[in-house]
Amino acid sequence: MKNILLLSVLSVLLVAQPTFESSETCKSCHPTIYDEFKSTQHAKASIFDDEIHAAVWKKHPKNTKMSSYACAKCHTPGASNYDELVKTHNGIVPDANDATQREGVSCAYCHRIESIQPGKMSNTNIIAKEGKSYFGSLKSHIESPFHKIKTDSKHFNSGNVCVGCHSHKKNKYDINVCSTNIENELDGANCVSCHMPKVKGSVSNMHETKEHAFHGFPGTHSHQDMLTQYVDIILKQNDKTFDITIDNKSSHALTLHPMRMMQLRAKVTREGKTTQLEHKNFARIIGADGKGTPPWLAKEVVQDTAVKANEKRVTGYDYTLKKGDTLEVTIGYYLVNPKMLKSLDLEKSEVATKFHHFKTEKFEIK
Ligand code: HEC
Ligand code: HEC
Ligand code: HEC
Ligand code: HEC
Ligand code: HEC
Repeated sequence: MKNILLLSVLSVLLVAQPTFESSETCKSCHPTIYDEFKSTQHAKASIFDDEIHAAVWKKHPKNTKMSSYACAKCHTPGASNYDELVKTHNGIVPDANDATQREGVSCAYCHRIESIQPGKMSNTNIIAKEGKSYFGSLKSHIESPFHKIKTDSKHFNSGNVCVGCHSHKKNKYDINVCSTNIENELDGANCVSCHMPKVKGSVSNMHETKEHAFHGFPGTHSHQDMLTQYVDIILKQNDKTFDITIDNKSSHALTLHPMRMMQLRAKVTREGKTTQLEHKNFARIIGADGKGTPPWLAKEVVQDTAVKANEKRVTGYDYTLKKGDTLEVTIGYYLVNPKMLKSLDLEKSEVATKFHHFKTEKFEIK
C-alpha cells in the first residue's frame, strides 16, 4: 500500500515536472553552437558557476535551510526538482551535485519555450509538453534523427522567447530591480538580431550550412566586441572645453543590471606626456532613504545616471584641447559597483573587481 502511494506520488511528480535533455546531448550534432554556448552566462547561471550570483544569494534573506531558492525561475529553470526548490519550508536548497541545476539556462529549456505569460513581479515561460521537440526559426532544414523540429519564427527570431526572463523583475515594494526595455524595437533590431548575430559555421554537422545564429550571447561578461557597433563615442570641441557624447543605439539602458557601474575614461597625450582626466561614472542605484540597499530592501530609485535606451548622453570636460593632442576615450564597466564589493564579500573576486573594457576611440586633434 505504502509503495503504491509512493509510486503514484512519484508519477504525479514526473508528469508535473518536465525533464530536459542535457546540453551535452546536443554537442555531437551541433558542435559549433555547443562550444559557443558552453562559456556563456546562460550555461553558468547557477550559484555554483557564477560567483556574483552566488555572492548575492548568500546574503539573501530567503537563503536559509527552510526557505526557497526562487531565483531558480530564471537561473536554473530546468532543475529536475524545480517545484521543490522554489517551495518554502521543505529544507530543499540548491545542490552542487545535481547535474540538472548545473545546466543553468539549457539548450533544451530555451528551445521548448512555447509562449510567455505576462506577470506583475516577473513573466513566466510556458514550456511545451512534448519533450525532444524543439522550436526554431530556420527557413529550411532537414529532419533531425534525434528530435522533432517545430518552426516558429515569430516567437524565435523576434526575441519574444527572451522576455520571459529578461523583461522585468520586481521586488515586494514594487521596485523594478532589473528590466530590459522590450517594447522598443529599433529599425527592426531586437534581442536576437543584436545578441545572436549570424556568424560563419554550420548549424549542424549533418547538413552543411554557411552560417548559424551565434550562441555565445555577447553581453557584459563576454564577447563585448560584438556589441560595440551599437554604441558610438563622439567628440565635440568647444572654445575652451570639449564634450564627449555616448550615443546608445540599443533599445535598453547600458549596463542595465543594478549591480553594474559604467565608467567613461579620457586621457590626453601632448608632446609625449599623458594626462588622465577625471573618470565619470554611470549607474542606476536602487535603495531606500536615499541610500543604496540590496535589491530586496529597495523602495526607490536613489540615483539613475545610466545611459538610457536610444539616448545620446553628453559629458562635458573642462579641458582645452590643442592641435597635435591625442585624446583617447574609453567606455568600460565594473560588473559589481565598487561600493558594493565589501558588503558582498567580493573584494577578492577577479571578475567582480576588474574594469571590463568595452570600447575605445582615439581622436587626433587638428
Ligand atoms: C525573472 C527572472 C529572474 C529571477 C527570478 C532572478 N534573476 Fe537574477 N538575473 C536574471 C537575468 C535575466 C539576469 C541577467 C541580467 C543582466 O545581465 O543584465 C540576471 C542576473 C543576475 C545577477 C548578475 C550576475 C552576474 O554574474 O553579473 C545576479 C547577481 C542575480 N541575477 C541574482 C539573482 C538572485 C540572488 C535571484 C533570486 C533571489 C535572482 N537573480 C532571480 C533574471 C532573474
Ligand atoms: C543526432 C543529431 C542531433 C542531435 C543529437 C541534436 N540535433 Fe538538433 N538538429 C539536428 C539536425 C540534423 C538539424 C537540422 C539542421 C539543418 O537542417 O540545418 C537540427 C536542428 C535543430 C534546431 C533548429 C530548428 C530550426 O528549424 O530552427 C534546433 C533548435 C535544434 N536542432 C536543437 C537541438 C537541441 C537543443 C539538441 C540537444 C538537446 C539537439 N538539437 C540535438 C540534429 C541533431
Ligand atoms: C530561462 C531564463 C532566460 C531566458 C529564456 C533567456 N535568458 Fe538571458 N539570461 C538569463 C539569466 C539568469 C542570465 C544571467 C546569468 C548569470 O549571469 O548568472 C542571462 C544573461 C544574459 C545575457 C548577459 C550575458 C553577459 O555576458 O553578461 C544576455 C546578453 C542574454 N542573457 C541574452 C538573452 C537572449 C538574447 C535571450 C533570448 C534568445 C535570452 N537571454 C533568454 C536568463 C534567461
Ligand atoms: C540594438 C542592439 C541591441 C538590442 C536590440 C538589444 N540589446 Fe542588449 N545589449 C546591447 C549592447 C550594446 C549591450 C552592451 C552594453 C551594456 O553593457 O549594456 C547589451 C547588453 C545586454 C545585457 C547585459 C547587461 C548587463 O548589465 O549585464 C543583457 C542582459 C541584454 N543586453 C539583453 C537584451 C535583451 C533581453 C534584449 C531584447 C529585449 C536586448 N538586449 C536588446 C545591444 C542590444
Ligand atoms: C537563451 C535561449 C537559447 C539557448 C540557451 C540556446 N538557444 Fe538555440 N536558438 C535560440 C534562438 C532565439 C534561435 C533563433 C535565432 C534566429 O532566428 O536568428 C536559436 C537557434 C538555434 C538553432 C538554429 C540555427 C540557426 O542558425 O538559427 C539551433 C540548431 C540551435 N539554436 C541549437 C541550440 C543548441 C544546441 C543550444 C545549446 C548548446 C542552444 N541552441 C541554446 C535560443 C537559444
